[in-house]
Amino acid sequence: MSKTDNPRLVVSREHLREALKIFQFIRPYRTRFIFGLVLLFLSSTVFMVFPYIVGVMLDVAQGNAVMENLSLPTIGIILVGVLVFQGVVSYFRVMMFAHVSERSTADIRKALYHKLITLPMVFFEKSRVGELVSRLTNDVEKLYNTFYFILAEFIRQIILLVGGVIFLAWQTPKLAGVMLLTFPIIVVGAMIFGRYIRKLSKQRQNMLADSNTILDETLQSIQAVKAFTNEAFEMMRYRKANEEVVQVSLKYAGGRAIFAVFIITVLFGALFFVIWQGMVMVQSGEITAGQLISFVTFTAVIGGAIAGLGNFYSELVGAIGATERVREILNTPGETDERPGADRKAGRFSGDIVFDNILFEYPTRADMPVLKGVNLRIEPGSKVAIVGQSGAGKSTIMQLLLQFHQATGGEIRIDGNNILGYELESYRSNFAIVPQEVILFGGTIRENILYGNPKANEDEIIEAARQANAWDFIRSFPEGLETVVGERGIKLSGGQRQRIAIARAILRNPSILLLDEATSSLDAESEKVVQDALQHLMEGRTSIIIAHRLSTIRDVDQIYVLDSGHIVEQGTHDELSNRHDGIYSSLAKLQFELV
Ligand SMILES: Nc1ncnc2c1ncn2[C@@H]1O[C@H](COP(=O)(O)OP(=O)(O)O)[C@@H](O)[C@H]1O
Ligand SMILES: [Mg+2]
Repeated sequence: MSKTDNPRLVVSREHLREALKIFQFIRPYRTRFIFGLVLLFLSSTVFMVFPYIVGVMLDVAQGNAVMENLSLPTIGIILVGVLVFQGVVSYFRVMMFAHVSERSTADIRKALYHKLITLPMVFFEKSRVGELVSRLTNDVEKLYNTFYFILAEFIRQIILLVGGVIFLAWQTPKLAGVMLLTFPIIVVGAMIFGRYIRKLSKQRQNMLADSNTILDETLQSIQAVKAFTNEAFEMMRYRKANEEVVQVSLKYAGGRAIFAVFIITVLFGALFFVIWQGMVMVQSGEITAGQLISFVTFTAVIGGAIAGLGNFYSELVGAIGATERVREILNTPGETDERPGADRKAGRFSGDIVFDNILFEYPTRADMPVLKGVNLRIEPGSKVAIVGQSGAGKSTIMQLLLQFHQATGGEIRIDGNNILGYELESYRSNFAIVPQEVILFGGTIRENILYGNPKANEDEIIEAARQANAWDFIRSFPEGLETVVGERGIKLSGGQRQRIAIARAILRNPSILLLDEATSSLDAESEKVVQDALQHLMEGRTSIIIAHRLSTIRDVDQIYVLDSGHIVEQGTHDELSNRHDGIYSSLAKLQFELV
């Protein structure tokens, strides 16, 4: 059972103060909110006319006019008036609160979304994203319910409770005293008891779910069950789980039975006692019959209000928990908050990149250094390759360049300046990356290419697709650029996706291009087409290439070999492959002999 299913019952002052900050989202709509509160107050107060009028009617009917001229038809007209008033007020109240809650929760969702996509990468490495999304959706829904309904109901019940008690104390003080001494205690007792029973009911459901898991599992792997002749074993497992369900169920039934007895004897006993007391007073002429009826009706309203308060209170506590989680996300420093003073606007880089003794370990695995003093110097406009075993830290170098993470030691400079001093958006707009596995957004091919530069026109899109060797296959689809891809659309081959990513990168026109094993998962034939497209893309830019197949990097200007966190070799393909004991030359021997 998770924490949210079982809310704390006591809320500390700090929690409350923190939680109340969520009301900042209501601020823009406060006029409506306050108006709604006023209407709520009106309708709740006017509602109390009903229990009163029921008693008055009885007195009038019996000839005990409370006021002169007050006949039953007059009362009927008053009642109709009150009803119409109630209806109108309630309509506007609901509309006011609906407006406020819809708008403010939409604002919360927007704020969360904006926050989430500007959070540092490490946040996503630490949390399970799917879980996060469903949790936040739940939390926002809770806040919505609170703003829309629960808060209003809570206030309404308090008004009914206080108003009812005041009215009774004024009209029939003695009887009210008797009632107040017995009733609330019993109602609170019933609530606590009810909570206990709900707990058992939940336990029973969990156990049922457990036993269903067994059913599910065995049917899923029925082949294994039969092949291993484990039917008897599974039967035993299921029987045991079932027995547990029965045990808890019986305990639950016992609780319910006692609860029923409690309600019938104690609660109704108290009610009848109070009514009996009232009858005695009617007989002695202390109060009228109408006053007794009013009293009983009010008591029912008050009882309902107390029970309602209990429920809404636990909902409110749940909402406070939701607020905390939402605010926790909203208060997490975003990427730019973590780099105060980084405001140097990056123009178009010439692409002079220096890694100066870079140390790095991932925040989520702080005990495992990935880069242990890496030095690189990349000339503007040159093509550089990084090779090394899988896990050597090649992709990490690109992550550091994109500032997904910050180096823990050393300095990266581009065009002479520490990259940490650049304003992030203009900095990143200098880069484009083509990864090994391109994931396209669900949408049309056009939208996916435009992602590189949303302002590009039709001709530019087609030209980019052409240069990326993608235009031919795009044109062959009946819907061309409007073909929907991704989960809901057609599935493109790896090479096709790669070429769309290249078209996107061409449109982006980056000064620095990062290719992270862009062709590694392709078959030889599509590799050739993609490689050809990449040549177009690399023209005139500083390019960093990570490649598994050395054939693709034979003509780069400089090759760096990364091993155990250090650059261990550097040179051109010819220089490195002629070394006798080098890592690169042995790799090259292996690969080119195999080809
Ligand atoms: N996001 C991450 N969090 C923690 N460790 C990571 C992360 N990404 C990569 N690593 C680890 O860092 C090391 C280098 O990874 P990477 O740069 O992806 O290697 P390469 O690209 O050379 O195959 C590996 O040991 C990998 O397990
Ligand atoms: Mg990698």
